[in-house]
Amino acid sequence: MTYQTLLVEKKTGYAIVTLNRPDKLNALNAQMFTDLDNAIEILKNDPEIRAIIVTGSGVKAFAAGADIAELHSCDSTTGEKFSSTGQQVFSHIEHCGKPVIAAVNGFALGGGCELAMSCHIRFCSENAKFGQPEVNLGILPGYGGTQRMTHIVGRAKSAELTLSGMIIGAQEAMQIGLVNSVHPQSDLMEFTEKFVQTVVSKSPSAVQAALHSIIAADSLSSEDGMKYEAQQFGEVCGTQDFKEGTLAFLEKRVAVVFGK
Ligand code: COA
Repeated sequence: MTYQTLLVEKKTGYAIVTLNRPDKLNALNAQMFTDLDNAIEILKNDPEIRAIIVTGSGVKAFAAGADIAELHSCDSTTGEKFSSTGQQVFSHIEHCGKPVIAAVNGFALGGGCELAMSCHIRFCSENAKFGQPEVNLGILPGYGGTQRMTHIVGRAKSAELTLSGMIIGAQEAMQIGLVNSVHPQSDLMEFTEKFVQTVVSKSPSAVQAALHSIIAADSLSSEDGMKYEAQQFGEVCGTQDFKEGTLAFLEKRVAVVFGK
């Protein structure tokens, strides 16, 4: 599969998806949404891929938002479609069943911030900047940003950022829990890949079950979330990786991961 706006590189156990419109600071246009949706569909069905990294090309931007040139032509009818299409693609990322890690290498504004928030973990470079500046354009975040940011940083911080359109730096983003950790630009990919290599070395069933349960916490009540967790726990107790992992501990040896 070839993509007009993405680079997709397969590594051992994981893939790197790079947003590739550096001259437009990787702004998310309609083609990029189509490409992203197709890439996620392929990677989620690829048994050799157990995690996905999303990053931006160049050293300046992860993604500077929705493509404002395309956005400008929206009216009340097409605007809703514009928003819901982006929401569907980002939900596809969030619910693809494999860990998706954003390596935020610069601006993550508007739709770029929303894309990063649809990933399960965010690492960023020291020059990264985050914000939801949509109010400056007379709109609100429309790709799930009002919902995900509120879940991630809480209502007060989400409102502070989104209602003012203010842009924050990497350190502040880490302080409020929007990113997991901050790295020199030159180390960001190496750090992210090492982290992902650790994740893909574990039992894929255990990783998937844990991911599903963590995501379920956003939409289920605490009681239903517990039931869901117990269900997932039961399922992984039926895997060879569980039997081997526990036996290896008892026999004081390193476990073999069978992936089943
Ligand atoms: N949509 C479309 N094009 C964009 C874009 C976006 N969201 N963000 C940047 N670009 C384009 C610029 O138009 C410019 O293109 P050009 O060279 O053909 O004129 C190119 O990317 C470089 O951007 P530029 O603004 O010149 O870079 P800068 O370093 O001066 O500023 C930003 C960087 C991120 C502060 C600025 O580009 C910006 O504010 N972008 C929009 C952010 C935004 O509001 N996002 C939310 C959208 S819903």
